[in-house]
Amino acid sequence: MTSQIIPVDAFDFIIFGATGDLAERKLLPALYQRQLAGQFTEPTRIIGASRSTLSDDEYRGFAHSAITEHVRAEEIDAAELDRFLGRLSYVPVDAKSGEGFQQLKDAIGHSKAVRAFYLAVAPGLFSDIAANLAKHGLNEGDPRIVVEKPIGRDLVSARQLNDAIGAVFAEHQIFRIDHYLGKETVQNLMALRFANTLYEPLWNSTHIDHVQITVAETVGLEDRVSYYDKAGALRDMVQNHMLQLLCLTAMEPPSSMDADAVRDEKLKILRSLKRINGNEAPKLTVRGQYKAGASAGGAVKGYADELGADSDTETFVALKAEIANWRWAGVPFYLRTGKRMADRVSEICIQFKPVPHSIFDDSAGVVTANQLVIRLQPDEGVKQWIMIKDPGPGGMRLRHVPLDMSFADAFEVRNPDAYERLIMDVVRGNQTLFMRRDEVEAAWQWIDPIQAAWAENRHTVQGYTAGTWGPSASIALIERDGRTWHESM
Ligand code: BG6
Repeated sequence: MTSQIIPVDAFDFIIFGATGDLAERKLLPALYQRQLAGQFTEPTRIIGASRSTLSDDEYRGFAHSAITEHVRAEEIDAAELDRFLGRLSYVPVDAKSGEGFQQLKDAIGHSKAVRAFYLAVAPGLFSDIAANLAKHGLNEGDPRIVVEKPIGRDLVSARQLNDAIGAVFAEHQIFRIDHYLGKETVQNLMALRFANTLYEPLWNSTHIDHVQITVAETVGLEDRVSYYDKAGALRDMVQNHMLQLLCLTAMEPPSSMDADAVRDEKLKILRSLKRINGNEAPKLTVRGQYKAGASAGGAVKGYADELGADSDTETFVALKAEIANWRWAGVPFYLRTGKRMADRVSEICIQFKPVPHSIFDDSAGVVTANQLVIRLQPDEGVKQWIMIKDPGPGGMRLRHVPLDMSFADAFEVRNPDAYERLIMDVVRGNQTLFMRRDEVEAAWQWIDPIQAAWAENRHTVQGYTAGTWGPSASIALIERDGRTWHESM
């Protein structure tokens, strides 16, 4: 089975932070892949912009190494790569002083192509870049601007950033990326819920006992000291990726896939989340930080050692959220995310309620409640756990088995990186998979009281050994309710 490629209009893609980590690991490889797939229309150009003084050729050299390092060797075609490098040029710019923006304007020229500015830079530079673009009239026409998280570190700073960008670009031109929304299985969640009649009638507190969302990583701090230690897992993962997953799981059916229809429904969920206040935080939230342990078969340092200083930043969060609306009243959503965990796994687990009455006698075994597991990564797929009769004549014995739909087995197509899909949506002007201003701010409105409660109660981090599933308090959080974390299989 092949996937269908729908070409996008010709575009000029301007990357601020052109020599940074995101451009190297994600943006340039994603753009190359989309060209290789045949999705570009000519003339499409990519212009790198950052503080380094590089020539066009030197930037092409950077892009060449980025692609050869981050794209699988069998997907690199020398002629395609040359053609790709031919689209690249480079302009040195300084966002603070405004130097180089006139040259950037000259480089763009009078092109009629779709124009997208991608801000792969620290949020501290968003306002300066937006102001300089406006000063040179580069926001005229119908350009798009793409911004990466973190969009602020609390509601106040998020509003300031949104105001600064909003002063130069209209909301329909602002694409706030949450790369989780570009993951295939995340979009599949919408297909599963809204392209089948099977689930929606059961998708409520009458039939669902609780929901678990886990995003576990095996990586540690990596080279992100200056950002991560000021952020922590609640801001880095929960405010955005985890809450977006929760929204897509819990939202009402939108009337269409139109961007505002979907985002209106997500916003309602964010606004229905029960506030966690100072008294409840110790009961409903767990903060952890990894200590030395083992990962991927080798010994690894603890967070503080990697950092080279003591720190109270959490690298793990578990929490119990509740959505105060008719559909979900009384259904807990347990969220957990952490670095240096036992395994890399992201999944959403929907735990259905047990049957109201069992007609089987004890010899049949336990009647286990149904479970739907949507695996985002790795091994994307969906498993619906059901009860069946154990085959054979030996009486009625029941078994809990999965109806297993592994995407790799079912579809022989390459699973595109989230950025590939999202960049093409930017060019198309489709905001369905991007966060609207009010969503980002509503998410902070829920996160801020938790952060404040932690500070107020001196809710310090609890250590956990690297390579485990987090502090024991995380297990206690769910076991207090008579439930357990789903073990991935
Ligand atoms: C980023 C976070 O947004 O997502 C990182 O800042 C995290 O800390 C990453 O590692 C996880 O993304 P993925 O796609 O690897 O699950």
